[in-house]
Amino acid sequence: MFRFSKKKLNRAIHYLELGVLGLFLIYFFKGSSDSKTDYLKLDVTKSSRTIKPLTKNNSPTFSWTKCQQNISAANITGFSSLPERVQDFLYYRHCRHFPMLLDLPDKCGGPEKSADVFLLLVIKSSPVNYDRREVLRKTWAKERLENGVWIRRLFISGTMDSGYEKERLNKLLEMEQREYNDILQWDFNESFYNLTLKQILFLEWMERNCPNARFLLNGDDDVFANTENMVLYLQSLEDNDGSKHLFIGNLNINMEPIRTPGSKYFVPVQLHESNVFPPYCSGGGFLLSGYTALVIYNMSQSITLLPIDDAYMGMCLGKAGLHPSSHIGVKAAGLDISSIRIDTHDPCLYKDLLLVHKFPPSHMYLLWQRIHDPSLTCDYKEKL
Ligand SMILES: *[C@@H]1O[C@H](CO)[C@@H](O)[C@H](O)[C@H]1NC(C)=O
Ligand SMILES: *[C@@H]1O[C@H](CO)[C@@H](O)[C@H](O)[C@H]1NC(C)=O
Ligand SMILES: *[C@@H]1O[C@H](CO)[C@@H](O)[C@H](O)[C@H]1NC(C)=O
Ligand SMILES: *[C@@H]1O[C@H](CO)[C@@H](O)[C@H](O)[C@H]1NC(C)=O
Ligand SMILES: *[C@@H]1O[C@H](CO)[C@@H](O)[C@H](O)[C@H]1NC(C)=O
Repeated sequence: MFRFSKKKLNRAIHYLELGVLGLFLIYFFKGSSDSKTDYLKLDVTKSSRTIKPLTKNNSPTFSWTKCQQNISAANITGFSSLPERVQDFLYYRHCRHFPMLLDLPDKCGGPEKSADVFLLLVIKSSPVNYDRREVLRKTWAKERLENGVWIRRLFISGTMDSGYEKERLNKLLEMEQREYNDILQWDFNESFYNLTLKQILFLEWMERNCPNARFLLNGDDDVFANTENMVLYLQSLEDNDGSKHLFIGNLNINMEPIRTPGSKYFVPVQLHESNVFPPYCSGGGFLLSGYTALVIYNMSQSITLLPIDDAYMGMCLGKAGLHPSSHIGVKAAGLDISSIRIDTHDPCLYKDLLLVHKFPPSHMYLLWQRIHDPSLTCDYKEKL
């Protein structure tokens, strides 16, 4: 997600980048996570709903029909020469609905009240990243009233591994949920190629449970986001009720799909024929309005999934005739500091930014504390 080309990387030291997005879902799920037979299908995206009642017991549990692999995908030209993970993606590309393991339907106070949420932090996190979530809860992602408006936090997650290991990690998220109420989890396998799916599942959830949230920060769990600055920035906009288009971050223009099979970002022609992506913001962190989030969700309904989640957001925006924009305060690639005289951890470098990639939890904690140190004085302009 943090791919960027050098020609586009701004030299200036004040740049940061952010970016990430999400989607959401409509399936109700209850009960143990691994039993596939105890589910029933509830497809609310189609006009005809399929709800098969349970026979095993009388609990109001919905069961789930597992999305089947599309074996015809193997007929795609050149399929057999594609890396296994691309083949796997093609087999399951049509699957857009997965049962929820952890849900928070009242996170925004219900659809009506959701307008009270000014900034919803939607952070992609995989189950193992406990330490990252912990530090974010204590620092920039703290839920709070900031300059008179509410910041709320959600981690969005899939599952990992299988068997006991999967159960153990699910249990961890369940425990965290009990304490913090900040996790949405779906029963799909976490992987880089499944990030687009995660984003769509979130947007689906948002349309249902939090449609009037004003703005969203969509990002990774290893970025440093200056949420105080974000609130000030968003409040300063002329249209600051989230009902107008807004999509800002680290803008990538004329990015070409990477055709090298060994790359993490490999996109063969079978996944994206065109040799260029529409403009998009790097997925490490980006800011968008509630309006734009719902437009993206609408557009996604008719756009085949691409495994590069941020580029996919760009495709959805493009289809809606909307443009992503760059913001000087977003540095998805981290600060480009070439001078060895500068301490790259100097809090003054980060104080005025919106978002920077990417920090280990301990640095995140320290930086947040230092930025808020009342005795901090910055004359960084002279240093640069
Ligand atoms: C794949 O293509 C072969 C030959 O064209 C055809 O016989 C077969 O039915 C196709 N398989 C699927 C699952 O579409
Ligand atoms: C399955 O894959 C084939 C080949 O790509 C495609 O034509 C078909 O639409 C896919 N089916 C579904 C349900 O996505
Ligand atoms: C998810 O990944 C695990 C291996 O990590 C695998 O055993 C399991 O079959 C996968 N599940 C699905 C639904 O693809
Ligand atoms: C995405 O998740 C689904 C459901 O768990 C899984 O079957 C599939 O293998 C995953 N895809 C990738 C590319 O990891
Ligand atoms: C999304 O689509 C629905 C149904 O087509 C429509 O009612 C709604 O206004 C659309 N939302 C946005 C933000 O475009």
